[in-house]
Amino acid sequence: MIVSGSASQSLSAALARELEEPLAPVEYDRFPDGELFTTVPGIEERTRAIVVASTVSSDAHLELLLLQDAVREAGVDEVVTILPYMGYGRQDEAFESGEPVSARAVARAISTGADRVLTVNPHERAICQFFEPTAIAVDAAGRLADPLPTDLVDPVFLSPDAGAISLAETVRDAYGGGETDYFEKTRHSGTEVEISPSDVDVTDRDVVVADDIIATGTTMSEAVAVLRERGVGRVFVTCVHPLLAQNAYAKLSRAGVEAIYGTDTIEREASAVSVAPELATRL
Ligand code: R5P
Repeated sequence: MIVSGSASQSLSAALARELEEPLAPVEYDRFPDGELFTTVPGIEERTRAIVVASTVSSDAHLELLLLQDAVREAGVDEVVTILPYMGYGRQDEAFESGEPVSARAVARAISTGADRVLTVNPHERAICQFFEPTAIAVDAAGRLADPLPTDLVDPVFLSPDAGAISLAETVRDAYGGGETDYFEKTRHSGTEVEISPSDVDVTDRDVVVADDIIATGTTMSEAVAVLRERGVGRVFVTCVHPLLAQNAYAKLSRAGVEAIYGTDTIEREASAVSVAPELATRL
């Protein structure tokens, strides 16, 4: 049985179809004081519950803990938790004294209610080890080639920093051809980044900029600006997790991108492809 968090309903339905398993009736409610009250009426004992919940907000984190507890209380045999997008995952170390390792803190809490955890393209694969037992990282980057036009002109697949180059390579391989390279990124703050161009000649070529997450859209819009200065053809931006916080969508549209694509790990207008098939192969 698939048990959906409120932020992952479309992906849960896709996964239920993929696995031919029923979708549990979940009710998302609140007490008058604002506390969450999330219930799964009628769940059967001795079944496997697959709880699918992107932790896109602090409430979504709490909702997941409640869902895990509800199905365990109802007597299911196994709780498999799927974190299509793991919130707090980017704070994976204490960068300065006094900071928390937020990814570890949330992983520990989630582990208490799960027998198995799967997550899609975590920001750093190492965060899987914060779970007990270690979470499985599912790579859905290849899906990002699906919505791209088939007529890209002499394409270049770029990542905005060295860390995401393998993701750009995966998209290129799935597309079936093209050059890959990466920018150098220096982050000055949560909303300020500096992008230095790569050496590759982009003049009149179509470029796909691929990253794991688009959050505020600052990284991508800076990358697009650099490309525009260099006479690029069309620019497509794509990511696994289209968080698209605040004014990110408008920022990227104003920057002149042709299209913004992402998967349904976070359900947004840009969610052009589903990761359900990749998840289904691991269940
Ligand atoms: C960071 O290393 C990530 O891979 C993304 O580049 C980053 O999270 C994007 O954030 P934003 O859209 O706020 O620039």
